[in-house]
Amino acid sequence: MDQGDAPRRFRDAECNEILRGLEAAQKRLPSKYFYDARGSELFDQICELPEYYVTRTERAIMQTHAGEMAQILGSKVRLVEFGSGSSVKTRLLLDQLDAAAYVPVDISGEHLHKTARELAQNYTRFPIEPLVADFTEALTLPQETVESRLTAVYFPGSTLGNFEPTAATQLLRNIRQLVGNDGGLLIGADLQKDPAELEAAYDDAAGVTAEFNLNLLARLNRDFGADFQVNAFKHMARYDHHHGRIEMHLVAKRAHEFSIFGQRFSMQRGETIHTENSYKYTLDGLADLAQTSGFRTSKTWTDAAQRFAVQWWSAIGRTKTLAKAA
Ligand code: AVI
Repeated sequence: MDQGDAPRRFRDAECNEILRGLEAAQKRLPSKYFYDARGSELFDQICELPEYYVTRTERAIMQTHAGEMAQILGSKVRLVEFGSGSSVKTRLLLDQLDAAAYVPVDISGEHLHKTARELAQNYTRFPIEPLVADFTEALTLPQETVESRLTAVYFPGSTLGNFEPTAATQLLRNIRQLVGNDGGLLIGADLQKDPAELEAAYDDAAGVTAEFNLNLLARLNRDFGADFQVNAFKHMARYDHHHGRIEMHLVAKRAHEFSIFGQRFSMQRGETIHTENSYKYTLDGLADLAQTSGFRTSKTWTDAAQRFAVQWWSAIGRTKTLAKAA
């Protein structure tokens, strides 16, 4: 494949994934490419926006209920956090938890080790054992240095919502395997609500989410040798009732041609590239999801307006049966 003036060598998997998406009748790009340095900075800004209720609502639930969560998890817990980032919400839990170890898992090694070093200065009661890994793959945890009573995965931030239903179930089944028959999952999930509130959260007045979405094209130009005219696109966020999800798209404001990895593409005015899904759940939907993945929703904490839920899912059944069902 001719990669022209592309600034770095690309992995085949990345090329194929991007090209397959752009060749589809409804063009799409994987949302994981949002998070280069600029994208991560913009996402941090999104989390503090007045319209983006997600982060502050979950934080408030943790502030109010972390003590009870820690009590339910009990003693000598090995807490494994998926996509730990800077572990802000986790600190609220770690402050209260009788932990045997904290295992933050993240694909970005540099960021992970920095956070782990900072945490180790604050928390001396238990070891911090960072694991650089892609949590969407089946994981092997490091050998225990302190014996634990149970393994609990913490998966906050509504990150599950960015997975398609099949991938979400697969990920949850992997978690079920990881925690074993005595473990569980503490998960943060965003709930269905008034579509106007949802659309505002993903299309804020200050235009930060628009910039976050458009940065995906700028990033493909920077890191993958594409030549998108970023200003030929505009941001769109809409709630899809049928799927119960917010969809983010980039809409071509005029007919536009671009190339990437030596392949030329053209778009009509008004045609879109689908860049992200953010699924919103009902409490019944979460209970079904838990059950098909080998868990039971044992406890739910929400805010007064039921915008967001943090749930403790305890393992049920045997993992062997589940592996067969997958
Ligand atoms: C990371 N994830 C949970 C965010 C969400 O709400 O789906 C990503 C995001 N996209 C636009 N705003 C926030």
